[in-house]
Amino acid sequence: MKNDNRPIGVFDSGLGGLTVLRSLKETFQNESFIYFGDTARLPYGTKSQETIIRYSKEICDFLNKNDVKLIIVACNTASALAVKFLKSYLNLPIINVIDPCVEFASKVTKNNYIGVIGTQATINSKAYNKKLDRINSSFKIISQECSLFVPLIEEGFIKHQITKDVCHFYLNKKIFQKIDVLIMGCTHYPILIDYIKQYFSDNTIIVDSAKTVAFHVEQLFDNNSVLRASQKTQNIKYYLSDKSIEFNKLAAVFLKTNSLDIDYIKL
Ligand code: DGL
Repeated sequence: MKNDNRPIGVFDSGLGGLTVLRSLKETFQNESFIYFGDTARLPYGTKSQETIIRYSKEICDFLNKNDVKLIIVACNTASALAVKFLKSYLNLPIINVIDPCVEFASKVTKNNYIGVIGTQATINSKAYNKKLDRINSSFKIISQECSLFVPLIEEGFIKHQITKDVCHFYLNKKIFQKIDVLIMGCTHYPILIDYIKQYFSDNTIIVDSAKTVAFHVEQLFDNNSVLRASQKTQNIKYYLSDKSIEFNKLAAVFLKTNSLDIDYIKL
């Protein structure tokens, strides 16, 4: 059996993709990763499709130059608006974070009412609605944009009254009462899970990209679309497009490490 020790590229507008990276690094301990956070240009969720495609293309060019074997678009906004372009542009396997969530949510809903929260660009793109509808046209999708979550998280307002108030503003809605599955359609949102879950019953299944994407990668390895690494050590290299104190703080806590190998680069 052949192996491929090249790293896996993972990118997001900022630190949200770390929720995906954390699960990937724990699940695939022989794999190495290059993480790119576009901290100079976030948030993506309020930008136009043209801009999101341009940013994503530049990041993928960078990852490709760094010889990654697979790219994981750990950003729902880029997954919704840029992945189609990226797939036609790059000769590399590319995973988006929407399909794995859609697949999982569609399997676990019992009453067919599915909630989706995400950035303005993701919700407006209707990417989740279209994909869910293709699986089962009787799904009822209740979606809500929560654009302020990303800036609040990136500014470090994670355990702050303002963030609780903003959660209340977006999520305290009767329309959510029927849903039995909630998709967190933004990779930043699991960082606010403790606040978010308060607005849903204990029976609501909350789906996020972290676990569903790891499962998807496992399938690519199993069917040999991408080859596993055989090395014993795991290297994780981080690149950011600008300095971000919050990224360093959160990444250290989140990934349980004091030594983050970060470089800053201009694309
Ligand atoms: N984590 C990104 C996502 O999943 C956030 C996008 C943004 O920067 O607004 O959509």
